[in-house]
Amino acid sequence: MARKKLIRFKKALEFNNVFALEKLTDFKFANQFSKKVLEIGCGHGLFSYEYAKENPDTFVLGVDVKLDRIFKGANLAQNDGLTNLYFFRCPVAFLIDHLKNIDFDEIWITFPDPHSKLSGIKKRLIFDFYLKIYKDLLNDDGSVYLKTDSVLMYNYALFQIQKFNLEFVDFTFLNEYPKPFDYKTIFEMKYLKLGKRIKRLKFNLKGFILK
Ligand SMILES: C[S@@+](CC[C@H](N)C(=O)[O-])C[C@H]1O[C@@H](n2cnc3c(N)ncnc32)[C@H](O)[C@@H]1O
Repeated sequence: MARKKLIRFKKALEFNNVFALEKLTDFKFANQFSKKVLEIGCGHGLFSYEYAKENPDTFVLGVDVKLDRIFKGANLAQNDGLTNLYFFRCPVAFLIDHLKNIDFDEIWITFPDPHSKLSGIKKRLIFDFYLKIYKDLLNDDGSVYLKTDSVLMYNYALFQIQKFNLEFVDFTFLNEYPKPFDYKTIFEMKYLKLGKRIKRLKFNLKGFILK
């Protein structure tokens, strides 16, 4: 690991707003908050940071496997004294084991890697297996929100929605959409500079049954 990454990695684990498989918590404190939001693949955590800053009554948890990226959002949150923003270094596949005390209202999947090769389809963060995890993490009225620049990921999301017969709203071509879609991520800022159109979807998993 490059030296800078290693330093960030170590420092992130020292923050009191960062948890990891080697530094666990039961997250019961999240239940003090009336609303709970989870960001999947949060990267540098800027979306989670903005969400938490704009909505101090909401508990926000950013999840990613890359601790050196999480460092950025966690550091901003520490400097601002945010008490409603936390990060968890954990692969999505293991989240159920660690978040069983929380029912989330919203799950945000922000600019997930489209894994364009057919062999990578099971790694897409909206593959069947992941949708099952999100269903278990959400409360009965909860929804998943997806932001992506990728046409492939957008079409795949529409395919999954149809396959599992899910209720959804496509905000991509609408002028009005839920405010948090405006909270920017690092990847989003890059794609916007390249002139890419951002696709925005919301769906719920009420009717989801793993086939
Ligand atoms: C393309 S980046 C987007 C990061 C951020 N959301 C953004 O828009 O700037 C995708 C992120 O998802 C994370 N990721 C991919 N698969 C994951 C998994 N199974 N569990 C947790 N994080 C994952 C990666 O580590 C990476 O930081």
